Formats: sequence, structure tokens, C-alpha cells
Amino acid sequence: MKRIAVIGAGHVGLVTAACFAKLGNKVICVDNDQKKIIALKKGIIPFFEPGLEELVKKVVKKKTLSFSFSIAESTENSEIIFIAVGTPAQKDGEADLSAVEAVTSEIAKAMQGYKLLVEKSTVPVLTGEWLKRTVNLIKKKNVDFDVAANPEFLREGSAILDFLQPERIIVGTESKRAKKLLAELYQPIKAPIIFTDIKSAELIKHASNSFLAAKISYINAVSQICEKVGADVNQVAQGMGYDSRIAKKFLSAGIGYGGSCFPKDVAAFVHLAEENGYDFNLLKAVQKINQEQIDFVFKKIKKCLWTLRNKRIGILGLSFKPDTDDIREAPSIKIMEKLLSEEAILQVYDPQAMKGVKKIFPELTYCKNPYAACKNAELLLILTEWEEFKRLDLKRVKKLLQKPYLVDARNIYEPKRMKQLGFIYEGVGRK
Ligand code: UDX
Repeated sequence: MKRIAVIGAGHVGLVTAACFAKLGNKVICVDNDQKKIIALKKGIIPFFEPGLEELVKKVVKKKTLSFSFSIAESTENSEIIFIAVGTPAQKDGEADLSAVEAVTSEIAKAMQGYKLLVEKSTVPVLTGEWLKRTVNLIKKKNVDFDVAANPEFLREGSAILDFLQPERIIVGTESKRAKKLLAELYQPIKAPIIFTDIKSAELIKHASNSFLAAKISYINAVSQICEKVGADVNQVAQGMGYDSRIAKKFLSAGIGYGGSCFPKDVAAFVHLAEENGYDFNLLKAVQKINQEQIDFVFKKIKKCLWTLRNKRIGILGLSFKPDTDDIREAPSIKIMEKLLSEEAILQVYDPQAMKGVKKIFPELTYCKNPYAACKNAELLLILTEWEEFKRLDLKRVKKLLQKPYLVDARNIYEPKRMKQLGFIYEGVGRK
């Protein structure tokens, strides 16, 4: 059993804290957002993540997880301190590490005895060097510490599973003591654990996420070619995926990737490369293709409706992916901005994400169910592949639509069946 502090109660920090508590450790989760901490103490989770509310309630009841506003108090009562605060992208793509620096300084001030500071947030390589330097400048002379990198590979919507049953654990350390502590901490998790140096561990995270984003942009580029030559990108992806060197996952063409990670991590990796004298053209192309997919889908809508002013468009799916309420960098936000700029009338439905979108676009019509979003629409636009949309009564949908246009930006339907049902169907790279 270890005494752990997790600084940052966001998607990464709260899942990390709850799962470490579930594994029998004594965990304090800290956040400077007092409202969030008060809500968490009442068992209210500030975002949707399947299974997290029940898990937090369980470990709080068992007193293995508690919440605090104070980094000082949590530092004193812990030996391992995970830094899990946000590292958002700045305008030029560089990761904003000001929150990481701020919490590191507070930890350093509060340190009375040995502490292991662990980077859990996604940070650019060389951040570990900065952490060491920051702590050395602030800490009391006789206090010993280590820094380690332990990047997370949590996917929103399956974060708890990804934590407890990871395909691999990455640990970057510089001392035997730090390596031993983290080896013991992760012992209950049956997964390969790769011990490496801090810089390599930091780079594994950026390189992994950027590779996944590249795979998505690659199949999206192929979808553009499929459209031009009359091939079907889902068939192409299926044929590709049998090769274990390519593999089946992350070959779903669509409106492109969003979320709080891929856009930020790719931009940070491009920036970091440039800072170190390498022009990462490959990733710049990945970013460009991802933006082009939004335009590609927008053009399909225009091809159907010609003009958009006062045209009623139904939208199913607002979150950046299914099983989350997260709309950060969601393609839906970008394409709705374009539709609204041409004065289309939007009626939308999403199982989880409407609350967040209402803050951005209060003027939209928010529907209680997917069928209400279809009612009298001249076109139906599918933006997120929620399971419930795959099971819709399409005959009922068609009856509700004023015109049978359906733009499927996540390729959840089969073109042949849609045409048989009388839809004028537009997928992405489908035929
Ligand atoms: C990602 C990484 O998968 C995870 O390992 C990392 O820790 C955090 O970032 P997440 O952003 O939650 O996780 O979602 P993910 O399931 O990876 O999807 C990212 C985006 O790619 C979504 O917008 C999704 O719609 C899109 N995507 C995914 C595709 O467009 N096509 C695909 O085939 C797969």
C-alpha cells in the first residue's frame, strides 16, 4: 500500500486516483477548483466517464480515496505525487506547462522528506529536466527527491478499463529508488511494464498519440481518393487491416479526430520538434488532412442542399467520440460554426454532450431524442457514432425528414441499404 497524491482531478487525474485507490493505496486527489472538490466530496463527478461515479463512491466509502484543495497537506501525507494537471496547446501549438510548473513549485515548498514526483500529464520531452530544476531551486536543502515519467494511455469512454488492463505501462526513472517504488505500485496490474529513461518515456507518449492521429489522417486521405475513383474506404480499410503490421483498429474514415489529446499532442510534437531543429512535415500533413475532412463533409452538405440559409438540418452526435460528454476540439463544433455562418437552422441531439454545446451555441434547438432531431429536417447529419444511432428505425427517420438527405460523417450505415430505403446517402469515401 502506497500513500499517493494525484494533483489534478480531470479526466486523467480522477481516473488515476480512483484506480490507484481501488488497488488498495491511500490516495488524495487535489484540485484548485474548490467547486469541483466540494462536488467530488459529495460523489458528484464533473464529467461523464462510464463507471467512474460508482468507482469513486466505492473508494471514498472505503476511505482509500479522499479529496483536498491543499497541495501542501497532500504532499506531506504522500510519498508518490502524480502531476495530472492540464497541458493545453497554446496558439503556436506549444504545450502550456504553467500549471505543471505551478503545482511543482507548491510541492517543492511543502516537501519535508523524500518524495517521488511523477509526470502523469502528457508533457513534451525535456519537461522532466525542468521539473528537477524547479524543485532544486525551491526545496529545502536536506530534502531528497526523484522525478519520473509515467504517461497515461487512457481513452475517454474506456478510461478505467485502460488503466486497470493496459496493454503496457511506461515508466521513465533515473534512480533505483524511483524504479522500485513504481514497480511495487504497479505490481497488481498484470501488464508489460517498460522501464526506460525519463526522456524516452515522455517521447513514447507523444510519438504514440501522433502515430494514432497519423493513422486516422492516412485513412481519411484514402477516403478522399476512394470518393474520386468510386471505391469504398471501409472495404479498403478491411483489406488493409488483416495485415498484422497495419492492424484493424484506427482505420475508420470519417470527419476526422478531435478530443483533448490528439489535436493538442500532435501540435505539441510538431512544436517540440521545431524547437529541437527538426521540421515535422509528416505531422503537419496529418493536421492539414484532419482539417480538410471537416471541409469535405461541409461540401457534401452543400452538394445536397445548394444554399443553407434557413434550411433545417438535423444533427445526431456532438461529442468528439461516443461514450463521452467531451466536446473539446470536437469536429461537430467546427462544422456547426460553418453551418451557422451560412444561417442554417440546426436541431441537434446527443446522449451526453448537449449541456456543453448549449454554452457555445445557445440558439440551437436541443432535442430530447434522435427522432426529434430528424423532424422536418431537410438533411440529417451524423457526426458521432453513438451505438444508439446505429439502431435507429430508419423507416421512421425517413418519414420524419422533409427531404431524404443523409450525410453520414462516421460511416455507420451501409450505402446500399440506405439507397434501398430511399435516402440520398452520402458517406465519407463510400460508394
Ligand atoms: C486518445 C488515445 O487513444 C489515448 O491512448 C490517449 O491516452 C488519449 O487520446 P481519446 O482521445 O480519448 O484517446 O479517443 P480515441 O478513441 O483515441 O479517439 C480519438 C479521436 O480519433 C476521436 O475523435 C475519434 O472519433 C477519432 N477516430 C478514432 C477516428 O476518426 N477514426 C478511428 O478509426 C479512430
